[in-house]
Amino acid sequence: MLARALSATAAVALLFTAGCRQDMHDQPKFIPQRGTTFFADGRSVRPQVENTVGRNQLHEDSYFYTGFSGGKEGDAMPFPVTMEVLKRGQERYNIYCTPCHSRVGNGAGMIVQRGYAQAGNFHTARLEAAPLGHFFNVISNGYGAMPDYSAQVTPVDRWAIVAYIKALQLSQHATAADVPVGAHVEPLSFIAEQEGLPANFVAEWTVPATAVTGTPDDQPFVLPGTGSATVGTTSAKTPTPAAKVTTPATTETAAPRQ
Ligand code: HEC
Repeated sequence: MLARALSATAAVALLFTAGCRQDMHDQPKFIPQRGTTFFADGRSVRPQVENTVGRNQLHEDSYFYTGFSGGKEGDAMPFPVTMEVLKRGQERYNIYCTPCHSRVGNGAGMIVQRGYAQAGNFHTARLEAAPLGHFFNVISNGYGAMPDYSAQVTPVDRWAIVAYIKALQLSQHATAADVPVGAHVEPLSFIAEQEGLPANFVAEWTVPATAVTGTPDDQPFVLPGTGSATVGTTSAKTPTPAAKVTTPATTETAAPRQ
């Protein structure tokens, strides 16, 4: 009795499985870049219809999209700079540019400190005098050893970053005369303390000795299996004389690597 009930269930299940066809999976469709005999030119992907522009692709304001005007890098923002724009620029800059250019834009970002090509210092006379369109152009198309950020940063955000770089440049030369009349100026160390930071927070930062190649025992770091010491000591430390190093037996090492 039980066996019959079971086999009936199985039969029903089978019926349903057979009923579940693969139409969705096997439907006729073109795989990208595959040819077809349907169109006379043999292409399944249709070329853009001449003299038409895709929706949202009319880049009529060429200055906004290139930073060039009349074949030259222009020196104007294509939209007004508000505090909101600067904040957005700061946020995007801190995400996309600081790894190489550092938060203050001196070109000594963490990646550069660890061996990447020296990044541009925005506080040189040449870049201080550079037109705004130059910065937009560099972000959009890259520059020498710098890759472009056109895929990561939209045009409007690129302009916001450009505005923020200008603010960074100004910040390095601000004097008491730039402060509006009557406004009170606090020393930076006072502000740091207000924020709960040690007063020396505003002093020049140095990379901690352990951040690059330092080891707990002050000996040069040795790559397991190589027997030879890797990169030297950091500037924050007096160089340790190359001590005799023994290759660790295992791949485990006490040296903190970052
Ligand atoms: C991966 C590292 C890296 C990142 C990230 C990076 N840059 Fe650069 N940048 C460089 C290097 C390296 C140079 C110097 C290139 C050269 O001179 O060959 C440079 C140069 C520049 C220059 C100077 C161009 C000139 O005329 O000398 C500007 C401006 C600039 N970068 C802006 C930016 C901005 C804005 C961002 C963020 C959107 C950014 N960079 C992100 C590495 C980087």
